[in-house]
Amino acid sequence: MRFLFLGDVVGRAGRRAVLSELPKLRERWKLDFVVVNGENAAGGFGITEAIYQDLIDAGADVVTLGNHAFDQRETLVYITRQDRMLRPLNYPKDTPGRGACLVRARNGADILVMNVLGRVFMTELDCPFRAVDAELTACRLKQGADAIIIDMHAEATSEKQSLAYFVDGKASVVVGTHTHVPTADERILPNGTAYMSDAGMCGDYNSVLGMDTEEPITRFVTKIPRGRFEPAEGPPTLSGLAVEIDDRNGLATRLSALRRGGVLSVIEPDFWND
Ligand SMILES: [Fe+2]
Ligand SMILES: [Fe+2]
Repeated sequence: MRFLFLGDVVGRAGRRAVLSELPKLRERWKLDFVVVNGENAAGGFGITEAIYQDLIDAGADVVTLGNHAFDQRETLVYITRQDRMLRPLNYPKDTPGRGACLVRARNGADILVMNVLGRVFMTELDCPFRAVDAELTACRLKQGADAIIIDMHAEATSEKQSLAYFVDGKASVVVGTHTHVPTADERILPNGTAYMSDAGMCGDYNSVLGMDTEEPITRFVTKIPRGRFEPAEGPPTLSGLAVEIDDRNGLATRLSALRRGGVLSVIEPDFWND
């Protein structure tokens, strides 16, 4: 199975990258399943239903979120009817929407996808380890699902790596999101789970985490907010992780970071180009 994950889509630049490139990549690489993190798609803060639908139409099978899940108030309402949108699993009970879903891929496989929030340097929530473990117990790899994808939305790489090793061999992919900076540590763990600490963002990297540099610099220098954070709108980079998953056991066989366009060096998975 051919799986592609795309990191946090930031503003118009990020959407432009995904909407123009994803349909081509789906075709060219014959992707079976695509997950896109959309928590910053609407002006950097949350996601509207129209933007969610655009991402689905462009080829996303599931859209994951994070700490910005409900920045757009309408999300509280429409998330209950959009069953391919995930907010973090470990939010308080009774939070609208869902943190995990089982979705049929193009190749007929059933894929369990989860979105979970870390707690280090972030707000207090239910334990992400126990939340993920409960889902994995209810829906085991190759029993309840043919592949299992976990979007670990967290600040600390230690927490992300701990979660990845915690589920090594029980999930197909653990990919980090939230920092908007791609890490160079993509690898297959000893028991077969594909891992990358952060997929990076889809957006304009000539920025501070996708935002115009002026306001972040001002706040660091003066400690006084002067205006709003505005998404940078220069040439966007598409950033993520490509994973080939063994249909027999649901574990990873090959992986590659993906970066194309914009100001970062280009990285492409070469194993699907034949
Ligand atoms: Fe983000
Ligand atoms: Fe985030």
